[in-house]
Amino acid sequence: MKNFKRTLITSALPYANGPVHIGHLAGVYVPADIYARYLRLKGESVLFIGGSDEHGVPITIKAKKEGVSPQNIVDRYHGIIKKSFEEFGISFDVYSRTTSQIHHDTASQIFKTLYDKGEFIEKTSEQYYDETAHQFLADRYITGECPHCHAEGAYGDQCEKCGSTLSPMELINPKSAISGSKPVLRETKHWYLPLDKYETWLRQWILEDHKEWRPNVYGQCKSWLDLGLQPRAVSRDLDWGIPVPVAGAEGKVLYVWFDAPIGYISNTKELCAAHPELGNWETWWKDDTTRLIHFIGKDNIVFHCIVFPVMLKAEGSYILPDNVPSNEFLNLEGDKISTSRNWAVWLHEYLRDFPGKQDVLRYVLTANAPETKDNDFTWKDFQTRNNSELVAIYGNFINRALVLTQKFFDGKVPEMGELTDYDKTTLKEFADVKSQLEQLLDNFKFRDAQKEAMNLARIGNKYLADTEPWKVAKTDMVRTATILHLALQIAANLAIAFEPFLPFSSQKLRNMLNLKSCNWNELGHIDLLKVGDKLGTPELLFEKIEDAAVEAQIKKLQDTKKVNELAAFKPAEIKENTTFDNFCKMDIRVGTVLECTKVPKADKLLQFKIDDGMGGRTILSGVAQSYPEPEKLVGMQVCFIVNFPARKLKGIDSEGMLLSAEDADGKLVLVSPSKAVKNGVSVG
Ligand code: MF3
Ligand code: ZN
Repeated sequence: MKNFKRTLITSALPYANGPVHIGHLAGVYVPADIYARYLRLKGESVLFIGGSDEHGVPITIKAKKEGVSPQNIVDRYHGIIKKSFEEFGISFDVYSRTTSQIHHDTASQIFKTLYDKGEFIEKTSEQYYDETAHQFLADRYITGECPHCHAEGAYGDQCEKCGSTLSPMELINPKSAISGSKPVLRETKHWYLPLDKYETWLRQWILEDHKEWRPNVYGQCKSWLDLGLQPRAVSRDLDWGIPVPVAGAEGKVLYVWFDAPIGYISNTKELCAAHPELGNWETWWKDDTTRLIHFIGKDNIVFHCIVFPVMLKAEGSYILPDNVPSNEFLNLEGDKISTSRNWAVWLHEYLRDFPGKQDVLRYVLTANAPETKDNDFTWKDFQTRNNSELVAIYGNFINRALVLTQKFFDGKVPEMGELTDYDKTTLKEFADVKSQLEQLLDNFKFRDAQKEAMNLARIGNKYLADTEPWKVAKTDMVRTATILHLALQIAANLAIAFEPFLPFSSQKLRNMLNLKSCNWNELGHIDLLKVGDKLGTPELLFEKIEDAAVEAQIKKLQDTKKVNELAAFKPAEIKENTTFDNFCKMDIRVGTVLECTKVPKADKLLQFKIDDGMGGRTILSGVAQSYPEPEKLVGMQVCFIVNFPARKLKGIDSEGMLLSAEDADGKLVLVSPSKAVKNGVSVG
C-alpha cells in the first residue's frame, strides 16, 4: 500500500438535461458523500469534486424540441441539480459546470497537448449528412428500422425496442431526426485516440496491479480488454461543445466523453483558485501521494477505467485513479428507472412530498445500495426501513435516553457508578465498532458499514430494554444514573458513527446532546459527555411514515404506468380491403341487457339475457374482468352479431357474439350505441 497524503474524490458529472433521481443518488452521490464525510471526520485531507456535464447530443436534442438554446437547457438543469444535491447534504467542495471558461481552456489545452505529441490518429470516414439542415448527423439524430427486430424509430446508436447496440449504417431506411429527409453519406475528418496502442499497458495496470477493484468493475474491464480495443473518435461534427482547437477543424467539437472527465480537473482548478489554503491544483492531480477515487455508475466504467486513464497517461503528467468503486443499477418497483418514461423518483419531488426526510432516503438507498448487483427500490421497503429501523431502533433508543435523563436528572448527564457485568458486556460489544466500520468503509462497503452503525443503535436499544431504568428509578437512583450515563455515551457515539450516512440526523442528535466536537477518532470512547453537562431539548429523531403517504407514491407510479401504456399504444395494422357485400353479410343488431350474471368456473365469461326485439336470446361474452358487478349492466344497450351459428360454452348455448374493444389494461369492454335505439335494429 502506497503512502498517500490526500484523497481526491470525484463523482460522475450528471448530464444537465433533466433533474436527478434516486438512481443517481444511490449509484454515485450518496456513496461518494459517505466516503468524503468519513475521511474528513478522520481529519484527512480530502477534496470532493462534482459538477454538471453540459455538452453532448441529448442536450441539443432537448433544446431543439423545446425551441430554446442548449445554454438555456443546461442553465435550467444545472440549477435544479445543484439545489437537489445541496438539499440532500451531498458535501461537494465544488460543484461547477463544463460550460465554464476554465473548463473550455483546460479541455482545449489537454487536447492540444495530445495533438502536439502526435497521440491522435487523423481519419476520414463517411458519415450521414442532412442536406436540408446542412449538418452531419450524430448517431442519435438518425432513426430508422432496426435491422434485428425491425421496429421503426430505432436510433443510430441503439434500438430501444430490442436493446441492441447499432451503428447508423446498419439502420434500414435511415431518416434525419432534424428534417425528416433521407441523409446522404459524406466524408468527414476526425481525431481518434488509439486505445489499442495502450492495451498492454492497460492489462498490466488494471488486470495485474488493481486486482482489488470491485469484481463488477474488474470484470467489465477484462472483457473490454479481451475483446481488443479500437481507436476511439474524440471529436464530433456538432455545434454545441468545445471547438476542436486545431486549424481545419471548423464545425467540429470535442466529443463529450473527451471533455467531461476533464471537468474533474477544471473544477479542482476553479476550487483551488478560490481557496489558496487548499494548495495548488497540481498537487491534487500530479503528485503521486494523492489518491484519486472515481465514484460512478456502471455505464461509465469503460470511460473511467480505460478511456480517461489513457488520456491522462498519454498526456503524461497526471496521476491515475487508485480505485473506481462503481455501483450497479437501482431499479424502481421492479422496472428500470427511465427519464423518458418518467419512471423515477425525482429528488425535488421527494422533498416536496417528504420535507425534511433527506436522511430517510439516504438511509434506504444505502441499506439497499446496488453495490454488487442491481437492486430494487420499493416504497413498501422505504416505509419498513423507516418505521422498523430508524424509528423503532435508533430513534426509540435516543428518545428514551434523553427523555429519561430529562425526567430523572433535570437534563444533566448523571454520574456513572459501579458497572455491572451486563454493563461490561454491552461496552465490550461496541468497543470494536470503530475498527469494524473502518474496515468496511475503507473497502467501499457502505451498505455493510451502515448496518454496523445501526447495530450500535440496536445494542443501545437493547441495553435500555433490558435494564429498564424507568422501573429501577423507583428504587435505585444510583443505578438509574449509571444506566443513563452509559446510554448517553452510546448516543454520543451514534452521532459520530452515523455522521457520514445521516448527516442531518447526526447534527440534530449532537444538538440534543450538546456535543460540540464530532471526531471519528473518538468513536468507541465512553467519555464523550461529561458528568453534569446540560443536554438540549429532546425531540424525535425520526417520525413514523404512514401507509397513506407511501400508497400515494405507489398510486402515482401506477398512473405513470397507465400514461406510458397509452402513449405506447399503436393501433393494429389495417386489414386488407373488403367489400360492401362482405360487410352486409354480417348481421349486427342492437339489444338491451335484461339479465347479466357470472358464469360459474369461468373467470372471464358473463352470461347475458338480451332483449333483441325478436323474443330474446342468450349470449356469453368474455368481458367479466371489466365488470366485477355484472348486474349493473342491466338496462344497457349492446351490439352483437346474430348470424353466427350458436355454440356451447360451459354447457350453455350462446346465440351470437357481443362487440367489444380492449381498454388500456387489455381488458374487454362492451360497445354500446351513443343514444337509445329500438331493440333489434340493424347496425350498418
Ligand atoms: N454525464 C455522464 C453520465 O451521466 C457522466 C460523465 S462523468 C465524466 O453518464 F467523467 F465524464 F464527467
Ligand atoms: Zn431492434
